[in-house]
Amino acid sequence: MRTFINVEDLGDLRQALAEAQEIKQDRYRYQHLGRNKTLLMIFFNNSLRTRLSTQKAAQNLGMNVIVLDVNAGAWKLETERGVIMDGDKSEHLLEAIPVMGSYCDIIGVRSFAGLKDRDYDYAETVLQQFIRYSGRPVFAMETATVHPLQAFADLITIEEYKQRERPKVVLTWAPHCRALPQAVPNSFAQWMLAAPDVDLVITHPRGYELDPQFTQGARIEYDQMRALEDADFVYAKNWSCPGVTCPEDYGKILSDDRSWTIDQAHMAVTRDACFMHCLPVRRGLIVTDDVIESPRSIVIPEAANREISCSVVLKRMLEVL
Ligand code: CP
Repeated sequence: MRTFINVEDLGDLRQALAEAQEIKQDRYRYQHLGRNKTLLMIFFNNSLRTRLSTQKAAQNLGMNVIVLDVNAGAWKLETERGVIMDGDKSEHLLEAIPVMGSYCDIIGVRSFAGLKDRDYDYAETVLQQFIRYSGRPVFAMETATVHPLQAFADLITIEEYKQRERPKVVLTWAPHCRALPQAVPNSFAQWMLAAPDVDLVITHPRGYELDPQFTQGARIEYDQMRALEDADFVYAKNWSCPGVTCPEDYGKILSDDRSWTIDQAHMAVTRDACFMHCLPVRRGLIVTDDVIESPRSIVIPEAANREISCSVVLKRMLEVL
């Protein structure tokens, strides 16, 4: 595997899930694969889980790890071509990328959407430059439109906790005080639709329709309570306007309707559902304290599975180096 961006990159999902369980039984089984190999993790944005779980996965596989926080200690990078660099950005990404590639064997990139220019974000401009100019296998650690390591961990978690062969999984928008990207819900929808046995329903206020390239085939229900009826898993997440129905609203907050916050009344209409969130989560906005602290909340094992999803991805990349 040379790139990891979309669910198709992983091939057969049943095989990938079996590999995840194999690695979970013995995290150090493939330690020989990463000997004398280096992972470079590049962060344009903050992280807790991705930073720690990816580093741990790489170390499990015997790799060396270098972490670069672009905004803390590196030269400020220009990402656009054709500009006169007379501002505060000292280095262009087009020189920086091949230099970074020369120090490592695999690159992970975190680069969020700017939420100002939909075309720029949805072209995955920064990630594509790494793929094109680094000469190394590249994987997304949440980029402008996708977060596949999270979605894979979510699928592993659902497989582990499901009580029925084909669980009903509800992706629900919830309010937030800041405009957030669509990467997590995009990938979650894409992966759930590709999963062998998941009944996906997406619910959000009107105007928050996700890009059809990720949601084609999903059931959309604008009535949140109706969507949650008989759910086995509730996956809460905020996202800003994806600009699908109204391009000029791209990246904006269209609603702060607190009735969408997941509380006990929402969970009561489900089939004793498990509560999921990728974290970090804002309590009181996305979910109430009692729901996230309840025995049906699986946000911690979900986060722990980030180490497992990343281990499978790095193993696949190391196998073809
Ligand atoms: N879920 C997730 O990616 O967490 P971080 O932003 O902390 O890495």
